[in-house]
Amino acid sequence: MKLTPMAPECGVEISGIQIADAAGGDMDAIKKAIYTHGVAVFRDQELTPDQHIAFAKRWGGIDVNQYFPLEEEHPEIAVVRKSAHQETNIGGAWHTDHSYDQIPAMGSILVARVLPPSGGDTLYAHMGAAYDSLSTELKQDIEGLEAFHTADHVYKADGLYAQSDMGSELRGQDQKTGAVHPIVIRHPHTGRKLLYVNSAFTINIVGKTREESLPLLNRLYDTAVSEDNQARVQWKPGTIAIWDNRVTWHNAMNDYQGHAREMHRITLSGEALAA
Ligand code: SIN
Repeated sequence: MKLTPMAPECGVEISGIQIADAAGGDMDAIKKAIYTHGVAVFRDQELTPDQHIAFAKRWGGIDVNQYFPLEEEHPEIAVVRKSAHQETNIGGAWHTDHSYDQIPAMGSILVARVLPPSGGDTLYAHMGAAYDSLSTELKQDIEGLEAFHTADHVYKADGLYAQSDMGSELRGQDQKTGAVHPIVIRHPHTGRKLLYVNSAFTINIVGKTREESLPLLNRLYDTAVSEDNQARVQWKPGTIAIWDNRVTWHNAMNDYQGHAREMHRITLSGEALAA
């Protein structure tokens, strides 16, 4: 197995292995690489839906997605789909999946199934590098603070997605979400400090209104998406990306209007977060 960093602070490309066959020491090395670099990309993979599920189970539990359509014969797999006539895509803004859950999912294994002729890349940003690059003063300002996260404004019946042209595809619009997490968490495996707020799902700092919270949150968001922290995944047939939600934000580019894109996503269960 060979590991090649994708960018100075974020992402690693792992070659020399078919993940369908990964076990033992290879699994440990893959997990460590993802916990460290935030996202790993594997090229030229052959992975059936059953192998996708079997590989995910080698990480631990699978969180079945509550909102996206599920693959008919394999409900563990969520279908992240944009049809050729649809304008809105899933995940087309910077976000961290599941920060609105009490125990947020660890990450996802995303397999490219249908790709547009060009575009449709996914950007990732590393929240350890983002935290490190904050000024000492800003680090002191956010020490010990917590923030409230929810997805209600995105997924509920009157939310952003329901009002878009993907509304009819979605499920779970009657659910209510909400969780409080520290603004700076420590990665449960590496111990690295990570910025854990995101512009899609973080509403306010605990003890402040949204209006009072936004100036500080916006300073953190500006740092989070600094180009120095980012990596770009250009999808090709056979590409798989696995990312750690604690370590990264991601953003699915919506620059392929008139073409279809379909990805299969399995979401991996996580653990409680702590400062
Ligand atoms: C997502 O999980 O937010 C979508 C990622 C992608 O489609 O590239």
